[in-house]
Amino acid sequence: MEKTGKFITFEGCDGCGKSTQLKMLSNYLTSENVAHVFTREPGGGKISEAIREILLSGKNMEMTDECEALLYAASRVQHLRDRVDPALKEGKLVICDRYVDSSLAYQGYGRGLGVEFIGKINAYALENYLPDVTIFIDLSPEAAFKRKHGADQNDRLELAGMEFHNRVYEGFKALAKENPDRFVCINGEQTPDEIFAQVLSALKEKGCL
Ligand code: TYD
Repeated sequence: MEKTGKFITFEGCDGCGKSTQLKMLSNYLTSENVAHVFTREPGGGKISEAIREILLSGKNMEMTDECEALLYAASRVQHLRDRVDPALKEGKLVICDRYVDSSLAYQGYGRGLGVEFIGKINAYALENYLPDVTIFIDLSPEAAFKRKHGADQNDRLELAGMEFHNRVYEGFKALAKENPDRFVCINGEQTPDEIFAQVLSALKEKGCL
């Protein structure tokens, strides 16, 4: 059966304000009676949530970068079959909190595995389920950190992780540049209302609403 619904993904660095936008969009779609499904990666189904627990557990610190990347890809395949595909076939709007671009940015750029390897192990998603629209909330890790902890904080641990997050951020910006038809970049330094207005107008312009 043909897929008739639209597939929308939200991407950005940790702390970029994605969750706030997803909540605002959920309220909007409910109030407008738009048939939709919200889901997230990693996770979004029984098996993929179990993989999420393995991935995000502090007990698995010795996991190799390659294993991490493969688990994200495995969880994605299952999630596509369990949640995304059925909803798209029913003609629903599917909104996913993170997707394959997170793997390209976090594992490809952040961990340094490269986009070629990440592209290969995610070929199923990239070839069969490319999002119609990807909303990228563009907020640098420094700005997200200041927003969370205040401008004067100087947390050593968080700063050590900053190089990784900066690579992830550069990765997202490169992906957005390479996929201008699919990506919509929204300046994350604006107020939540301003950002949401741009999310809505982008989704309308792209024929999703
Ligand atoms: P989560 O708590 O859902 O964070 P957020 O609210 O920022 O989305 O954790 C998801 C984490 O998983 C986040 O740090 C990004 C990471 N991730 C990857 O590294 N690769 C991936 O392919 C995906 C989907 C997520």
